[in-house]
Amino acid sequence: MCGIVGITSNKQVTPSIINSLRKLEYRGYDSAGIATLSKGFINEVKCEGRVDILEKNLSKNKLLGNIGIGHVRWATHGIPSTINAHPHSSEKVSVVHNGIIENSTILKNFLIKKGHKFKSQTDTEVIVHLITEYLKTNDLKKSVLKTLSKLNGSFALGIIFKDQPDLIVGARRGSPLAVGYGPNENYLGSDSYALKSMTNKISYLNDGEFCIIKKDDVEFFDADGNKVNKKILTLSSSEQNYNKGDYKHFMAKEIDEQPTTIKNCINEYLDKISNSINIFNFPWKKNEISSIVLIGCGTAYHSCLMAKYWFEQITTLNVTVDIASEFRYRKNRFNNETLYVFVSQSGETADTFAALDLCNKKKMKTCSVVNVVESSIARESKFVLPIHCGPEIGVASTKAFLGQMLVLYILCLKLAIMRNDINKNEYHKKIKSLFSLSKLVNQTLETESKIESLCSSFVNIKGSMFLGRGYSFPIALEGALKLKELAYVHAEGYPAGEMKHGPLALIEEGMPVVVLAPRDEYYKKTISNMQEVIARGAKVLLITNKNKDEIHSENIWEKVEVENATDDLLPFLITIPLQKLAYYSALKKGYDIDKPRNLAKSVTVE
Ligand code: F6R
Repeated sequence: MCGIVGITSNKQVTPSIINSLRKLEYRGYDSAGIATLSKGFINEVKCEGRVDILEKNLSKNKLLGNIGIGHVRWATHGIPSTINAHPHSSEKVSVVHNGIIENSTILKNFLIKKGHKFKSQTDTEVIVHLITEYLKTNDLKKSVLKTLSKLNGSFALGIIFKDQPDLIVGARRGSPLAVGYGPNENYLGSDSYALKSMTNKISYLNDGEFCIIKKDDVEFFDADGNKVNKKILTLSSSEQNYNKGDYKHFMAKEIDEQPTTIKNCINEYLDKISNSINIFNFPWKKNEISSIVLIGCGTAYHSCLMAKYWFEQITTLNVTVDIASEFRYRKNRFNNETLYVFVSQSGETADTFAALDLCNKKKMKTCSVVNVVESSIARESKFVLPIHCGPEIGVASTKAFLGQMLVLYILCLKLAIMRNDINKNEYHKKIKSLFSLSKLVNQTLETESKIESLCSSFVNIKGSMFLGRGYSFPIALEGALKLKELAYVHAEGYPAGEMKHGPLALIEEGMPVVVLAPRDEYYKKTISNMQEVIARGAKVLLITNKNKDEIHSENIWEKVEVENATDDLLPFLITIPLQKLAYYSALKKGYDIDKPRNLAKSVTVE
């Protein structure tokens, strides 16, 4: 999704802006642009397409200046095009924007009546003209405040001014925004990652705040224009995590990193000597929680669905799972004894953040499961459980999915022991088996060559289905999502037992169907459902676990066996071949695996 960079310095800024825009490419975008201030004029260079094209355009049309803003755009209002690319500028002001201005049509009509001329189809351009209009009669700070007060919707903004050659204004409502501090220069970025190559000293704007950034000073203000003090955080995480190494794609690297990320996460949360969980500062007591609501979007939602099965199996809590974009607009029955858990890799997903914000306003107990610990969702939650996966750059979530499931499983065990829902022996046993998970995932990665050899059957097809029951159902949804988003193949995840209630009509001769049937308590039932689709011509790829018992079924097209594990841990293992299946199918089609079309890594608009 859109990304912002701003730099004010005592040296030329265009090369560093390009460098930072490259860091933001992982978010997914369709056009890019830069504006700088030089000799009293705002100049812009923009393009449709990638930052590489922008760089080429810049070699023909050099952009000089010690102050500038850059942007990668993911189209919302108006098609992807050079004209609609950001920055948008008037003679006086240039703006980059993430988010959506909901009242842009009303504001545009107002501005047209005042004589302003619009070039693009974007909602962003109204911001440019509003500030330009208010600057006629107000100073900079008042013009910004007045402009922000007129905007409905969500935004992160970076603004430069023709008549203020030494400053950038940043403003935030809804969409995240960070400020970075460097030697004789300071920065603005839509996330700290964009600024990582320049600094690890970061402050975050809170909702409603704005800031004025000069090369040697930064001031922060609240929505009323009162000055606020900010903490400067020092970020960790090394730069090498952001490199592909010898891999062709980040996604391939991230899938293969899973044994390590699981090990890291287990080391953070589990004590090997006592076989217990190291979450000592959990803020709520056992009688303060009687139910749990798990909320997320996309893959994170699937990890919540998975966790529901564990919570129901292992605890006596009432469990509800919700899609954040639904939760935030429903008439919810808020309950003081409910723990609201928000799951998000990026920690910036607009809908998940809005759902959290709603719960915070109702004074509910909020906990987040995130990868990015400096994210908005982490900062606004009462309690944070990081998944310790390291940066995930590929747009399609892989290692974060396993990380989310793992942390939710650990949380489930934590609540179970706290509430005496599980006996101590059982608890220690489950934790002990977690210590073998990393190795099992590593061994399961060896299914890769088999999957690679099968993927051509998933490439040029009308559609496919992923079936599972119980613990395997959420994984079926995730497997289908991965194939859709990477190989652009229609794929549907379905509870295997539901097929005969309608979708069986879709099955035709040769249709590839992935059946997830590890030898857990649902195994026999799933195998029966598999027979039903085979009988109707489906070409079944069975994913099960290694076992000496034979599978009593004929006409299975292919079989992939993951390692053996407890029922609780099999979902982690059966995910691996599905990630590889999507990867190799997309590779075969020559698609842009790390940046699938139309998608963004961090979905900061609703
Ligand atoms: C799919 C995928 C998305 C994200 C979703 C939520 O591979 O990555 O479905 O899971 O956009 O993102 P986060 O977890 O950052 O809130």
